[in-house]
Amino acid sequence: MTDVLDGVRDHYRATGLTQRLKAALAALGPEDRPLTPDQLAALDQFHTRGLAATAELARLAGLTTEMSVLDVGAGIGGPARFLAATLGCRVTGVDLSEPFVEAARYLTQRTGQGGQVSFQTASALALPFEEGSFDAVLLQHVAMNIADRPLLYREIRRVLKPGGKFATYDVVKADGVLKGGEPHFPVPWARTPATSFLLTAAATGEAIEAAGFLRLVWRHDTEAAKAWITQLRASGPPPAPNHGTVMGPDFAELAANLGRNLIEGRVGILTAVFEAASIR
Ligand SMILES: C[S@@+](CC[C@H](N)C(=O)[O-])C[C@H]1O[C@@H](n2cnc3c(N)ncnc32)[C@H](O)[C@@H]1O
Repeated sequence: MTDVLDGVRDHYRATGLTQRLKAALAALGPEDRPLTPDQLAALDQFHTRGLAATAELARLAGLTTEMSVLDVGAGIGGPARFLAATLGCRVTGVDLSEPFVEAARYLTQRTGQGGQVSFQTASALALPFEEGSFDAVLLQHVAMNIADRPLLYREIRRVLKPGGKFATYDVVKADGVLKGGEPHFPVPWARTPATSFLLTAAATGEAIEAAGFLRLVWRHDTEAAKAWITQLRASGPPPAPNHGTVMGPDFAELAANLGRNLIEGRVGILTAVFEAASIR
């Protein structure tokens, strides 16, 4: 398992990321002028449909001001900062990639949200929190990097309070509906199949329920993702800083393959919300 985690870490290694971000963000104004989630969205919402998808997931999960939220695989922290800014809730993010966590802390300092949002380096498979610590957990475009789904979903269930919400937005593998076969690589989450662990939507739902969750919302969002990709193809990538600033010069190729895979039915997008059952 360590080999796999090392492979995933390598994919998101992003050498010198914070320095690159500092340089790229100079275009948006001086260091002491607070940045907003909108200004960073092309860069820090690392999933299909960007900010709109995060906003929708929060609405579907019924997130509110009083909640304590954990973002698992928080990336460089865009979703966490957006939730804190729009809902006023406290958000903790964990991520496997140290450079991403360092960048997440730097960007949070730039948005002035250090009192509300924090980040730690940790694996989703060994969350550094007590049982029942959170009211809600978010998992956006992360599960596709994780082979041991039963352990992932058990960990999420463990740190949630009974009745807490688990909102997941992820890439799924072709099934009876999506008939496209194996994905083309490299893709934004893996440069080779060695660190990609897609499940079908149905298998994802079964693994989550087996960990002690009840299904509340279940939605196939592949068509919305295809529309978004088509629009991106027509308009070209957003101006820098964007995901290329984070992932490097080959990001255009990774993103293009995600588009091909979606259009050819090789992968799909699933949005789902679950409630932590009281009895496990
Ligand atoms: C595509 S990015 C999504 C980031 C963020 N959720 C977002 O939507 O902006 C996937 C993230 O998952 C993290 N990740 C992958 N496997 C992980 C694991 N086992 N534990 C913690 N984080 C992990 C990666 O480091 C990366 O930051």
